[in-house]
Amino acid sequence: MKVMVIGKGGREHALCWRLSQSPSVRDLFCTSGNPGIDQIAQPVAIAPTGIPALAGFAAENRIDLTVVGPEEPLSLGIVDQFEARGLKIFGPSRAAAQLEASKTFAKNVMDKAGVPTARFESFTDPAAARRRVQSCTYPMVIKADGLALGKGVTVCHDHATAIAAIAEALEANRFGEAGRQIVIEEFLTGEEVSFFALCDGDRAAPIGLLQDHKTIFDRDQGPNTGGMGAYSPVPGFDAAFEQRVMREVVDPTLATMRAMGMPYKGVLYVGLMVDGDRINVLEFNVRFGDPECQALMMRFSSDLAEAMLSAVEGKIDQAAVRLSPKSAIAIVIASGGYPGEHRKGIAIKGVDRLEGGQPSDLKVQWALDQVRVKVFHAGTAMRDGLLVTDGGRVLTVTAMADSLRKAVAGAYQAADLIEFEGRQLRRDIAYRGLARTQ
Ligand code: AMP
Ligand code: GLY
Repeated sequence: MKVMVIGKGGREHALCWRLSQSPSVRDLFCTSGNPGIDQIAQPVAIAPTGIPALAGFAAENRIDLTVVGPEEPLSLGIVDQFEARGLKIFGPSRAAAQLEASKTFAKNVMDKAGVPTARFESFTDPAAARRRVQSCTYPMVIKADGLALGKGVTVCHDHATAIAAIAEALEANRFGEAGRQIVIEEFLTGEEVSFFALCDGDRAAPIGLLQDHKTIFDRDQGPNTGGMGAYSPVPGFDAAFEQRVMREVVDPTLATMRAMGMPYKGVLYVGLMVDGDRINVLEFNVRFGDPECQALMMRFSSDLAEAMLSAVEGKIDQAAVRLSPKSAIAIVIASGGYPGEHRKGIAIKGVDRLEGGQPSDLKVQWALDQVRVKVFHAGTAMRDGLLVTDGGRVLTVTAMADSLRKAVAGAYQAADLIEFEGRQLRRDIAYRGLARTQ
């Protein structure tokens, strides 16, 4: 089949890479400007949000399946517009994408479905929100309702922070439309993990549980980023735990979305807080995570295009969805200054030594005998024939091996072959999992 991927980051490079290896895929297209993707997919010079033009391209070129990476086109209704033209597309409708685009919507669905989540109330009136926080205990959490690029959540340890967060969102319009409504919710403690499932409107197939690392510095210090690393599986979270998440979260959510007239198709990303036997959903996202996707695609070992097409056609139960039992890790290499201001156009050295997972470098050979390494491009560009930085998160180095320890060692050896001025990476990706496997 002919497949088109929408998006142009590390997540989409990983999707393209796995799709390009699907026996059912003959031609692959991507809305790219990323040199990694350009090596394996034919570029489509249309922005990921240029929905009518993308639908026109898909129709003219008889694309059999379109796969949407980022959230924005989904919440703009790309799936509805493709389907109106009879085009097959993997992702939720605009209505169903509210699971990510509105926290109040997501919380109401969880309530209806009986999915465990922090107690909450929504407010649009700042005076009412201030009255509410007069009587609350701290810490507690204030969230902008809409999409705020990961910056909409404030964990408040005292009253002054809460009052400031209410004013920023509801009075100073710091988050624009996304902050016209806020959610005030109970603070949860525990360990965070993410769970992913391919959904067909009625049923779902689990495709892995991961742990993400959100802050820029080691030991979870510093400001939050889009994600600095992830690994899967996570020691301590076994198959029985995954079945529990399917039973207590994914299945009831799909049944409720169906009953509300907005069946959920696509990948469902469940952000969980786990404290002993207690699980709570922190958030839903309606897309793959980045860099979670890069680690997941290493483990995904059946025909991805077939599996996604089965989800689109409402028959995920008939699809082959296999995951390697091996451990996969993704480490993000970021620009100096990220997640704040950072320069672009800095020359990157060493990626060619890792292309194809075949480094000539003997120093890493011991690891690579047992470790499969793959580098995914995110914020990179070609200038005068040279690979240069072109964004905050520049590359994701992924590795897979038969133990987490080997995967971690191999990924860091590979990452250290890549150099550019100001390069930042966390040194402790998978630290919780490694501590449990001692
Ligand atoms: P969200 O966008 O809702 O996932 O929130 C972003 C991050 O804020 C989460 O990954 C958590 O680290 C933290 N967070 C969100 N909600 C809560 C909560 N109710 N209790 C504690 N931490 C939270
Ligand atoms: N890595 C977190 C996300 O993609 O939302």
